[in-house]
Amino acid sequence: MPYIAAISGSPTETSRLNGLLHEIRHAALSAGWTYNEIQVRLLPPEDLIYARFDSPAIVEANRLVAEADAVVVATPIYKASYTGVLKTFLDLIPQKGLEGKIVLPLAIGGTIAHLLALDYALKPVLAALGARHIVSGVYAQESQVTRLEGGGFALADDLAERLRAAADEWLAAAGRAASFRAAAKEGAAG
Ligand SMILES: Cc1cc2nc3c(=O)[nH]c(=O)nc-3n(C[C@H](O)[C@H](O)[C@H](O)COP(=O)(O)O)c2cc1C
Repeated sequence: MPYIAAISGSPTETSRLNGLLHEIRHAALSAGWTYNEIQVRLLPPEDLIYARFDSPAIVEANRLVAEADAVVVATPIYKASYTGVLKTFLDLIPQKGLEGKIVLPLAIGGTIAHLLALDYALKPVLAALGARHIVSGVYAQESQVTRLEGGGFALADDLAERLRAAADEWLAAAGRAASFRAAAKEGAAG
């Protein structure tokens, strides 16, 4: 069964970013993928701040990333960039920890003005972590995601459509990569 690791860099429990991730999770589960989510804000803050690479919580989060065929990196836009919360975890991923993974970047901002933060801020860090296949990301505006009374989120139709299209492209690429790896492994064994 192919694996997904989603890394969420929001410090807020009820973040609208969760509405985006819910859609991605739904697409992944429907396609038969195993989906694991790392909410960075739930990792021990001291492990993140003191960069404790060997803490059990960090080792476990890194195991989920290492085992994944495909990774979602999701963040709210803060100060024209990804959040510091996200970076505290990205700093603890091994040097080439995203090598060979198919990566989907997601962001949500208060305004459209920081749309390019995906390109000038997030993607260079993903590339530094070894990611070579980064599919088209999705940038959402806060106004496109509504918190529902009693929990959950409603997404604007065009946003939901863009998320589904991005998930399709990402899962198809990850599926091809996983099949290729499995065939190569079989070939090496046989
Ligand atoms: C500290 C802080 C800085 C922010 N900086 C930006 C920014 O530079 N550009 C932007 O578009 N939105 C900015 N925002 C707005 C958030 O990106 C926006 O509210 C996003 O949807 C997060 O949603 P959430 O509060 O539901 O997690 C900022 C919000 C906070 C709290």
